[in-house]
Amino acid sequence: MGLVTIPSEALIKGQPSLAEQARAWCARLEAGDILYFPQTPIDIPPDDLVFLLGQQQADSSLHKNIAYKPNIDKLSGLDTKTANAIAVARLQGIMRSYSQAVVRFLTSFLSPYKANWKLDYASFRPQEEQGRDLSLRRRNDLLHTDAFPTRPTHGARILRFFNNIHPSRTRDWVVGDPFSAVARQFAPAQIAPRPDTLASRAAKSLGRAVGLGAAIPSIKRSPYDDFMMRFHNFLKENPRFQAETPKYPWQFPPGSSWMVYTDTVPHAVLAGQYALEQTFLVSPDALVTPETSPLKVLEEIAGTKLI
Ligand SMILES: [Fe+2]
Repeated sequence: MGLVTIPSEALIKGQPSLAEQARAWCARLEAGDILYFPQTPIDIPPDDLVFLLGQQQADSSLHKNIAYKPNIDKLSGLDTKTANAIAVARLQGIMRSYSQAVVRFLTSFLSPYKANWKLDYASFRPQEEQGRDLSLRRRNDLLHTDAFPTRPTHGARILRFFNNIHPSRTRDWVVGDPFSAVARQFAPAQIAPRPDTLASRAAKSLGRAVGLGAAIPSIKRSPYDDFMMRFHNFLKENPRFQAETPKYPWQFPPGSSWMVYTDTVPHAVLAGQYALEQTFLVSPDALVTPETSPLKVLEEIAGTKLI
């Protein structure tokens, strides 16, 4: 695994990527590579950048990481009681434009996925990542793979596209070895897939994971989702994994973009401030190398279907 640099000359604006090239990019992502754009292919108007970078001082309610839900055109993570309505409307418009611009770009750049992805949340991340005071399972500076506690993907892959919009500082990541190696090396019996106990245990396990202690019947988690959530927690809580696993540092400069399957590439954010991000859930049917998907890897380990 590694970093695949895509120079701006390789991007012909307004024209779809060649189908063959697009499949090759998809294959690199599915193999665990990061696709890196030294100069972002996403147009973010200078006025929007000024607004986003000014939030630290301007409105305390906009300091926190804020999610944007494109399908309902809504922001979340705001304190609506204290937020300045004009600033919120402006941020909503900026996030809408950003989300649409990333979708436009990836619709051609990763054309094999476009018919079979679900647009998930976008986010604005204005907080300094270094030294954040978060509970262990929420820490971003520990290597982990992503899983959503309340939104099981049922085998869909979590693809994330990032922009470092800080004017002068890098966003500092480390990444680990690909999922297949990590799952085989570090998944002990207690976190291995448990298809036989699926429905009830998955709900209870989720309840514990989110600190509720009880089953949550409204969230239907497959054995796959149950494993991915427990694996996320296991990696963060495992000192041996954190200490011994190979780590590859990457620093993403101001003005750059990158994308990666964060459900399978162990990653941690050590430092950086001000980023934009858009998440896609890519259906297993859309993958160009489905045999390498985490679902297939886990089903091979478990010897049974997990969805
Ligand atoms: Fe993450």
